[in-house]
Amino acid sequence: MAAKKKTRPPEKTVPAAPPGNDFRLGEPYAPAPEATDHARIAPAYGLFINGAFVSAASGKRFPTVNPATEATLSEVSEAGPGDVDKAIAAARKAFGPWNRLKASERGKYLFRIARLLQERAREFAVIESMDGGKPIRESRDFDVPQAAAHFFYHGGWADKLAYAFPGRKIAPVGVAGQIIPWNFPLLMAAWKIAPALACGNTVVLKPAESTPLTALKLAELLADAGLPPGVVNIITGAGDTGAALVNHPGIDKIAFTGSTEVGKQIQRAVAATGKRHTLELGGKAAHIIFDDAPVDQAVEGIINGIFFNQGHVCCAGSRLLVQEGVAETIVAKLRRRMENLVLGDPLDKNTDIGAIHSRAQLERIEALVRAGVEEGACIHQSGQTLPAKGYWFRPTIFTETAQSHRINREEIFGPVLSVMTFRTPDEAIEKANNTPYGLSGGVWTDKGAKIFGVTGALRAGVLWANTFNKFDPASPFGGYKESGLGREGGLHGLAAYVNLSR
Ligand code: NAI
Ligand code: MG
Repeated sequence: MAAKKKTRPPEKTVPAAPPGNDFRLGEPYAPAPEATDHARIAPAYGLFINGAFVSAASGKRFPTVNPATEATLSEVSEAGPGDVDKAIAAARKAFGPWNRLKASERGKYLFRIARLLQERAREFAVIESMDGGKPIRESRDFDVPQAAAHFFYHGGWADKLAYAFPGRKIAPVGVAGQIIPWNFPLLMAAWKIAPALACGNTVVLKPAESTPLTALKLAELLADAGLPPGVVNIITGAGDTGAALVNHPGIDKIAFTGSTEVGKQIQRAVAATGKRHTLELGGKAAHIIFDDAPVDQAVEGIINGIFFNQGHVCCAGSRLLVQEGVAETIVAKLRRRMENLVLGDPLDKNTDIGAIHSRAQLERIEALVRAGVEEGACIHQSGQTLPAKGYWFRPTIFTETAQSHRINREEIFGPVLSVMTFRTPDEAIEKANNTPYGLSGGVWTDKGAKIFGVTGALRAGVLWANTFNKFDPASPFGGYKESGLGREGGLHGLAAYVNLSR
């Protein structure tokens, strides 16, 4: 009966409020002003360290707002260096037992987490849309199911690593520090946590300061799943907290998704420390349409490629390259389609374009769009009425753009597409590769040979043919050049969380 000790309690159903994340123990639970039955948001959250929510040593907290209403949703704790230290110590202590646990048992935890995510999908979707501004249709149909899929997928790998790396000795890396951005908060948490745990590592994860709520909900879920304390620690804070995590000597690996600028800082910080690192950074994908492409499908692909998640997507198809013969038709259809996009309340299931994630991001988008106009590109904006409160930007297309324009060189990270034309496949390839980034790209054509010829010549980590923005946990994702290094997902993603030897 010794084995019995190892089996975990059965899954709990969603507990009634209070959700147990209001760390001000002893105070009666009062839901946050915007909380509903479908989104139980506490008025304040602690740091999730060693399986429990605790206050930051400094007691400091900061608000997270709903970008569609500008209302404060909740206050989260700001982890200082002492808190980071505590979280890493908890992860270190948990590492040995977690790593020694039978691999199939580790897998069971991942499956349990995946199933709980499915059960609580609605709440996660609603909170994701409230905290970050993305349309509920996307959080419901994409972010949450994909997050669950990542836990299922990696749960499957946990006891099959010997097949992933045949003939090699496999050891976990140790304690992983993980820093994620605000554009896919829950999904990026899943991308980071699932492979780390499958391979026997423990984790300290920091969500973005503007979208911490689904990661904190995930912390609640991990506790409900019976995950041993310290295996995953979730600490909130901004860049300083992230830097404290990166610079701490107690981590063995850093996994980062975010801006190229911060990625470069991290790479400098870990140089010669022996810390493993993977970086998923910005992008400026070329979306190439040949004149033999199925036009209407391509138009839908282009719209999805740039307007998905308001264009807050590192692999967004932000540079459209259209072959001259179809350019006029494609642009006319795009402009018509753009007018029909529904912009507004992210919680309305008909919404296509939600809120811009923050005031700062809105200002960045506006500045680059101004630059596009000033540099002589021709701007087309749709005519939707913008809500009075919140941060919004109309779907925008630039034509007559040059490769030298800032809108073609810099990541806008907003609903803004710039269009260029080309005559030959070689010209398309040359223009597509003329960027410091190399994350993703897409090609639309009727000819298989052209797909292989062109994609083979594109220097980008993720390539789509006759589709765009399609994801699967089994496909590795990552970039070349200033888009980062390392891959997440698939076998390549697992490799980032193991040390291999003969
Ligand atoms: P950011 O890179 O500052 O933020 C990403 C994450 O890094 C957040 O969790 C943040 O707290 C953390 N962070 C910030 N400074 C850090 C530091 N010195 N050390 C460790 N962690 C740190 O991105 P930001 O400022 O929110 O967005 C700026 C631009 O970056 C966007 O306009 C977009 O172009 C790009 N971006 C790209 C993303 C991607 O998925 N590749 C995601 C987010 C932003
Ligand atoms: Mg927010």
